[in-house]
Amino acid sequence: MIDFNYYAPTEVVFGKDSEEQVASLVKKYGGHKVLVHYGGKSAQRSGLLDKICSLLKEGGIDYVALGGVVPNPRLSKVHEGVEICRKEEVDFILAVGGGSVIDSAKAIAYGVNYDGDPWDFYTGKATPESFVPVASVLTIPAAGSEMSESSVITNEDGDVKLGYSNNISRPKFAIMNPERTFTLPAYQTAAGVTDIMMHMMERYFSHDGDMTVTDNITESLLRTMKECVFAVLENPEDYRNRSQIMWGGSLAHNGLTGCGRTEDWATHQIEHELSGMFDVTHGAGLAAVWSSWARYVMKEDISRFVRFAVNVMGVENDFTNPEATAMKGIEAMERFYHAIGMPINIHELIGRDITDKEIKEMARKCTHNFTVTHGNFKVLGADDIEKIYCMAR
Ligand code: NZQ
Ligand code: ZN
Repeated sequence: MIDFNYYAPTEVVFGKDSEEQVASLVKKYGGHKVLVHYGGKSAQRSGLLDKICSLLKEGGIDYVALGGVVPNPRLSKVHEGVEICRKEEVDFILAVGGGSVIDSAKAIAYGVNYDGDPWDFYTGKATPESFVPVASVLTIPAAGSEMSESSVITNEDGDVKLGYSNNISRPKFAIMNPERTFTLPAYQTAAGVTDIMMHMMERYFSHDGDMTVTDNITESLLRTMKECVFAVLENPEDYRNRSQIMWGGSLAHNGLTGCGRTEDWATHQIEHELSGMFDVTHGAGLAAVWSSWARYVMKEDISRFVRFAVNVMGVENDFTNPEATAMKGIEAMERFYHAIGMPINIHELIGRDITDKEIKEMARKCTHNFTVTHGNFKVLGADDIEKIYCMAR
């Protein structure tokens, strides 16, 4: 096990009616004037937004609201949020929604006291010195942003999607009421679980040897997510299984499943170009490229893929042929994706063939004009990434 720091300071308030505590939690973390940030229509339709606003009002907390965050959240909305926060002297940002809303809230929080464009933090041009406190009322288990140090923003100018990680952006609290996820469409539910599982798999495929505790936690969480998703696709109002997925989504990405090992993240980097260029759902994009990544890198350490096949996917171990066992694990994962309605290649994802030009463009953007590599399980340059896109087409 390699040395690590585990820092997960977010207070989790989990369960039925947990949103009732919103005003006291905002006060606890020093909020006086709140920006209530939300997405398209779902939080309005369900009545959650009205409820949160009423609870803040009753609690004597002043607020302004800004909606309209879209999946793959845009920089222009971040600029709008920064302006409102400055004008209204906002000192706390409450995201009511999923990863896109929370990430937009984080980007606004970086920008409020910064003279330049918050995009500078995502391009590495600047390092933030201040961050307005952020918290969330989560409505979709997927991105894990409710406890993570990351945010991912799309700059419409060039369709560039970039992530930025900094511990100062870990949210103060996360309110999680599984009943609030009953309204999720099947596709978002499945894409969410795919993303949750991938947050663990990006950490699981590592060469760092003795990671028994972390491996066992991860494998158990992966199996649990795999089982629970079918129940909620069958019955969207299945509280028991919605709960497991919601809590699993936070544990997947709050750092726990990365303790003691080097993480990979190549699949996420490869996917970000797909959602940047085609505006697809992040989880679905991950499913479309993962098995191609896996086939491309598996020979770096077959034993890891064998362990995954046996302990996560339930494949019988053929001790005489580790490669065949590893491959069966990847194929089983593809069958799982199809069974929950996820794509396993780019054609299924975008509904048409991708062109060679588009692949080259994505490989260029993914490596920031051929200047960076991605991944640790196997370090990937632009040529490797182009080959993976070709395998996934
Ligand atoms: O906009 P509304 O109408 O609210 O609809 C949303 C949206 O269309 C809908 N939805 C959310 N809760 C709902 C609901 N519909 C019905 N009932 C509910 N309870 O679901 C759609 C997707 O929402 P979004 O917030 O985009 O989903 P997700 O949480 O998957 O976030 C995706 C974004 O997070 C980034 C992704 O790249 C993507 O941009 N990620 C952020 C990470 C982080 N900050 O740590 C890590 C991840 O790897 C990921 O990259
Ligand atoms: Zn993700």
